[in-house]
Formats: sequence, C-alpha cells, structure tokens
Amino acid sequence: MKSPFYVSLKPFLHHGTLSRPVKWNAIFANDFPLEVEIGFGNGEYLERISRDNPRVNFIGFEQYCERIQRTLRKLSRTGFDNVRVLRLDARAGFERYFPPWTITRVHCLYPPPWPKKSDAKHRLFTTDFLKLVNSRLVDGGVLKIVTDHRPYIDWVLENIQDAGFTVEFNNIQANYGTKFEKKWVEGGQSEFYELLLTKHGHIPIGLKEDSALQSYIIDNFDPDNFSFKDYSHEGVAVSFKEILYDAKKHIALVHVIACDGPVAQNIRIVVALSPKGWRVNLAEGTMLMPTMAVSQALECVYQAAKMSVG
Ligand SMILES: C[S@@+](CC[C@H](N)C(=O)[O-])C[C@H]1O[C@@H](n2cnc3c(N)ncnc32)[C@H](O)[C@@H]1O
Repeated sequence: MKSPFYVSLKPFLHHGTLSRPVKWNAIFANDFPLEVEIGFGNGEYLERISRDNPRVNFIGFEQYCERIQRTLRKLSRTGFDNVRVLRLDARAGFERYFPPWTITRVHCLYPPPWPKKSDAKHRLFTTDFLKLVNSRLVDGGVLKIVTDHRPYIDWVLENIQDAGFTVEFNNIQANYGTKFEKKWVEGGQSEFYELLLTKHGHIPIGLKEDSALQSYIIDNFDPDNFSFKDYSHEGVAVSFKEILYDAKKHIALVHVIACDGPVAQNIRIVVALSPKGWRVNLAEGTMLMPTMAVSQALECVYQAAKMSVG
C-alpha cells in the first residue's frame, strides 16, 4: 500500500491571523532578506528559488486555492522553512504587510496579460501598483516581470514614468519551467520578454491600516422584501450577487463583491435571528482583508435589511 503523503500547512499564512505590522523576522525566526513572488501558480519557480537561496525568505501571493495546494505539496517535499504563501491579492498584501524599504526583489512570471483592450483595466502593473512596489523595495531593489505577451511590456513601459525605476528589457528564452511557460512553449512560442526594473528613487507610500468591521442588530427583517442598492464612492464599490434564505433557521446569507479600487473580494454577510433581534455580521470563515469596502458592505447590507420592513 502506498503510504499517505502529508502536506505541511506551516508555509500557509492566513492573513486574518497576521500581526500588524507583520514581523517577518519573527515569522521566519531570522532576518534574512525578503523576496516576493506575485502569482506563483503551481509553485515551480517559488520552490526552486527558495531551495537555491536558503538565506533568503520568500513570500508568495496567489489567488487560486488549488494552485496554493499544489505549491504546498511541492514545498512539503523540499522541506525548507524559508517560504510563506498567502491566498491574497498581492496589491492588498503590498499595501498592508510590508513597510517601505523592506523587500529586496519582486518576481512576477506571466501575469495575466488581459490582451483585449476592454480588459486592460484588469492588468496588474498600473502606475499606482508600480509606485507601491517601488515604495516597498529597498534602494537598488528589483522588480522582475516576465511575459509571453509583447504588448504587455509596452503597456508597463507606458506606466513606468515617475514610478522611480530604471529599466532593462531583454528578449529571453523559456527558462522558468512553470506551468504557463510550458503551455506557451508547447504552443510553439520560443521568445519571451523580461523587464528588470531597478529602484533608483523612493516613492513614499505608507502602510495601509485595516478598517474596523462592525456587526449590527435590527428589530425586524423581511427577506422577501430585501432590496440591495449597489454602492460606489471614491474607489470603494459594493455590488450585490445574491441572497439565500433558510426559513427554518431564520438565516439569510448575502453574497456581495466588495472592491477597494482594483482589489475585489467576494464576501458573505449573514442576517440571522438572535435573542436580541436580527444580527448582521460577516459569515464565519469568510476569508477577507478588512478593508473600507468590506466595512461598507456590512453597512449596505444592514441598511438594506433595515429597509426591508419599511
Ligand atoms: C498566467 S498565471 C501564471 C502562474 C505562474 N507564475 C506560471 O508561470 O505558471 C497568473 C497567476 O497570477 C495570479 N494572480 C494574478 N493576479 C494576481 C494578484 N493581483 N495577486 C496574486 N496573484 C495574482 C493568478 O491567480 C494566476 O495563478
């Protein structure tokens, strides 16, 4: 019989449990330099660079659970203790987890290129994000972006002015062996593109703080009359997806999308009957970053639930 393979969860950090500011030297129990990989996918590159550089600490951001799972399997095999991964939009991570001048190198291999013009708004390396990365890098620190999509490079170069970087551009061969790179190679692509952006001037952007999340109590609630008005103001937006109601348990689950600028979070808010009235709060287990938009989402659901009984 095949013996079971246990995956260590030690490298996985739940952002809800991280102290602020994050004490990376306490997490890694040393003060080695920090490097970050954005969108590590199945973790081939993260596993390799962490194995090759045991005196560097690596933090990876990825959005998809299955890819994080595959990466944790790889990291379990390697057994090194110099990697931590988070399921989080890297933009929120850079804003909140790294004070200025703390990262020596940022790697991003094959960010989604969003090739259609109408989708370009979803691309990662906007001027704002480039400035944020700059502020978190040490002087002389490097942001490496690799892509299969040449127009993506031109778009980043358009955004780079005033972001405090000097630019090196290289045509390169496939040499990272990641899932997406292999896919392009199998599709016949042999030339890829690399940007090395070196910090030469500092852009001051302070750490962003979490927002306080409130729960609310209302006297009455009518799920059949629940009408949610989407909210949008100064970069914070909340849009309604659906409401599910369990009439036996007197619990409604409201699914909304909370956006702080480009960072979107799917969250669930519960409206449940309690001895004190109908309680409105975040659903247990909702993985979220407590941002202005999440706080606003709670307020919107509270208002809509209150209005449901006129
Ligand atoms: C095209 S895949 C490339 C994955 C991997 N680097 C590779 O080469 O196989 C892009 C990855 O970036 C992740 N990603 C995109 N935007 C992100 C963001 N803002 N924060 C964290 N991960 C992100 C996606 O979830 C996806 O897994």
